[in-house]
Amino acid sequence: MLHDNLTVKNGVLHFAGVSTVDMAKKHGTPLMLIDENGLRNRIREYKNSAKKYLTENSMPLYASKALCFTGVYKICQEEGIGIDTVSGGEIYTALNAGFDLSKAFFHGNAKTDADIEFAIDNGVGYFVTDNMEELEQISVIAGQKSVTQNLIIRLSPGIDPHTHAKISTGKVDSKFGVAIETGQAFEFVKRAILMPNVCVKGFHCHIGSQIFESTPFIDAGVIMLNFIKKVQDELGFKTTILSLGGGYGVRYVESDPVINYSERICELGTALKETCKKLDITLPDIMLEPGRSLVADMGLTLYTVQSVKEITGYKNYVAVNGGMTDNPRYTLYGSPYTVVTANKMDEPFDYPCTVAGRCCESGDLLQENVLLAKPNRNDLIAVLVTGAYNYSMASNYNKVPRPKIVGIKNGEDFTFVRRETYADLIKLDE
Ligand code: LLP
Repeated sequence: MLHDNLTVKNGVLHFAGVSTVDMAKKHGTPLMLIDENGLRNRIREYKNSAKKYLTENSMPLYASKALCFTGVYKICQEEGIGIDTVSGGEIYTALNAGFDLSKAFFHGNAKTDADIEFAIDNGVGYFVTDNMEELEQISVIAGQKSVTQNLIIRLSPGIDPHTHAKISTGKVDSKFGVAIETGQAFEFVKRAILMPNVCVKGFHCHIGSQIFESTPFIDAGVIMLNFIKKVQDELGFKTTILSLGGGYGVRYVESDPVINYSERICELGTALKETCKKLDITLPDIMLEPGRSLVADMGLTLYTVQSVKEITGYKNYVAVNGGMTDNPRYTLYGSPYTVVTANKMDEPFDYPCTVAGRCCESGDLLQENVLLAKPNRNDLIAVLVTGAYNYSMASNYNKVPRPKIVGIKNGEDFTFVRRETYADLIKLDE
């Protein structure tokens, strides 16, 4: 099927070797399953390739906005990789996992004083600073605490990665980072390297997400290296870290290409090394920030069919007990997903329908115009490749509780995140 961890046995979809029907019976639906062995293997692929094709100290930083809960940070810690965090909440969750925050990079274009203080107090290794107001405040707070805070500066390389506009981030007019093209980045660095209580280690860029082409990453890397050459020559500044962000695409539907991440990193390494040679500079340690490509295909979501509504002459709706509350991506971006009738995999997939969520909102759809094995009430629907930006973007709209997350490791299932209860839904109400 779409990915190696998806198989069919006796007409039932299996994920990471376990029956989705058994998991739904045992844990209830909506249910997210996470393939822990798969995730660890993908992390190792990134980690080993970074070491092999970039530099000895190059490594992946898991972009934890893609899927954030204590268990994921524990896995990152055990696998010895760093993390990209974007909020006090993510840092707090990582702390709860016992994650060594010296390997954490703290992103964000609107960090509050409280965020800055919280991160410094907890020993976050690096800030990824986005603007001068923030940088000045890091310097002040670090000074008050008598520490020197390491950081890298987020730049905008002016690359259009040809992905969805809402997830494209490296263009010159982006809300993120300081633009190289306008000359502002150079002026920023000039000031930053003289600032007290902070130590600039290098630069960062992130051009966007769900990108299948390899050229935008290489182009961004080359632009960054040219900038590194300029600040070295003109300011005498030596860059030790270059973070190239995340963004590698993931296969959601059959028509998407399969990406070999290790090959991509090899290709990137070759291009970066050639550029360094031309520019006569040393290749800094390269950080990669994969989110989607670490976790997306390591997850799937199971739902129970509630109704099948046929509007004669128009369309068919299959309504399930979840939707935009646990997966807002179709509603937000029109993102394609593969949907299957998980307990009828041997039947013909010839029933055209729209898979609708349970919210009181017509836009609450998981996917339109798909072909399923005709479902009835209580059949099991699986939406594949939901590990990234589903649970982490989930909401309680309509006071719908968030699903349970169950991990599968060596064929055994266990709870990563328990199902939200009605009591959880009112726990903040005074
Ligand atoms: N680094 C930075 C600075 C980022 O902003 C992001 C994603 C990543 C790394 C990870 O990118 P990835 O490898 O996952 O593509 N909610 C959207 C995706 C937003 C991505 C935001 N930044 C979606 O559901 O498609």
